[in-house]
Amino acid sequence: MAILDIARMGHQILKGRAHEVANFDNPELHAFVEDMKETMVHAGGVGLAAPQAYVPLRIVIFFVPEGRNNGQAVPLTVMINPVITPMAEEMEEDWEACLSVPGLTGVVPRWSRIKYSFQDVDGSLKERTADGFHARVVQHECDHIDGVLYPMRMIDLATLSFTDCDDGEDPEADENAEDGSEPDHHEPEPAL
Ligand code: NI
Repeated sequence: MAILDIARMGHQILKGRAHEVANFDNPELHAFVEDMKETMVHAGGVGLAAPQAYVPLRIVIFFVPEGRNNGQAVPLTVMINPVITPMAEEMEEDWEACLSVPGLTGVVPRWSRIKYSFQDVDGSLKERTADGFHARVVQHECDHIDGVLYPMRMIDLATLSFTDCDDGEDPEADENAEDGSEPDHHEPEPAL
């Protein structure tokens, strides 16, 4: 096992379309997937795509922590050759962060409900549906294997922010909001 270096925005490896995996009976593939898992955990992320580890293959891993998706956790999943199909026109906006875009966060529109299929590490075909944060993570990771980073999906670049900066909002005003509205400031998002 090894902790891999993570490519940052600007590197060519993050810009291309990654290749399909054809051979699953390959010890190198299985070892690389284990390295991806270790790298994601070490980086404190909840998702990682192979091109982020400088390997141009259609492999992504992710999990959804408890409490993130209406309380529904999704265990660590390895997806190879994934395909996403939106289930409705509806989209929703939320904050995202990315291990390849360290220190920044921004609001990104994503499909609200999706169906997705993939092969597991042994080549078996799986299919799932997802909504909320689960759907968001899958879309973010699958963008990585098509050379797309989340800032390229942003509509309002004014939301692009440093995660560690003071947003200038009055914290007491946020805390005292009694109308149930979300405070303007936000907790740092887990990176994908
Ligand atoms: Ni990312």
